[in-house]
Amino acid sequence: MILEEIMKRHSGRAFTNQPISDEMLNSILEAGRWAPSCANTQAWNFVVIRDKEVLDEAHEALSGGNAYAKAAPVMIIVAAKEDGGCGAHGLPYFTMDVGLAVENMLLQAVHLGLMGHPTAGWNEAELKEITGIPKEYRIITVVFFGYEGDISQLDEADQAKESRPRKRKELSEIVHWNHW
Ligand SMILES: Cc1cc2nc3c(=O)[nH]c(=O)nc-3n(C[C@H](O)[C@H](O)[C@H](O)COP(=O)(O)O)c2cc1C
Repeated sequence: MILEEIMKRHSGRAFTNQPISDEMLNSILEAGRWAPSCANTQAWNFVVIRDKEVLDEAHEALSGGNAYAKAAPVMIIVAAKEDGGCGAHGLPYFTMDVGLAVENMLLQAVHLGLMGHPTAGWNEAELKEITGIPKEYRIITVVFFGYEGDISQLDEADQAKESRPRKRKELSEIVHWNHW
């Protein structure tokens, strides 16, 4: 009953360095662009990094736990202005807009036989310096895209993480019918 892409999507760590075609990359970006956003503000911006030189520099800004991502051929930095979304309820809706765009991109990647892994483990100031993202923008997430490889290429710690069962809260814990 659930879309195949939703069930297949997972944040795996074993990327191969096989490049992604321009056509595929473009369709991932298009999928992001067609996400809904509050009052259609479309606060998202995507900095696509795939030149080896820039990737090498950007890899220096990753936290140690995200070293596995250096194998991925494409890194997309998703940035937005804190006042770039709509102001309803005084809530930071720009982050919701970005999240919806990113999920579209992740599902499109699965549809194409690729894997995407969103992250928050990196140094924002360093990534902004390397890529020239203007100071009024915040980096919300960095998503790595590529083909999934074999987990035997990962170090022991990452292999252990990959072997953990994926879990979710039960619907009974989070769904409230009619009243909380
Ligand atoms: C905003 C955000 C930040 C994340 N940061 C990291 C990260 O820095 N490193 C990492 O390996 N995974 C990161 N993840 C992936 C989550 O750990 C993963 O989505 C979660 O464990 C559920 O697993 P699944 O995506 O395979 O369903 C992040 C995911 C999100 C949405």
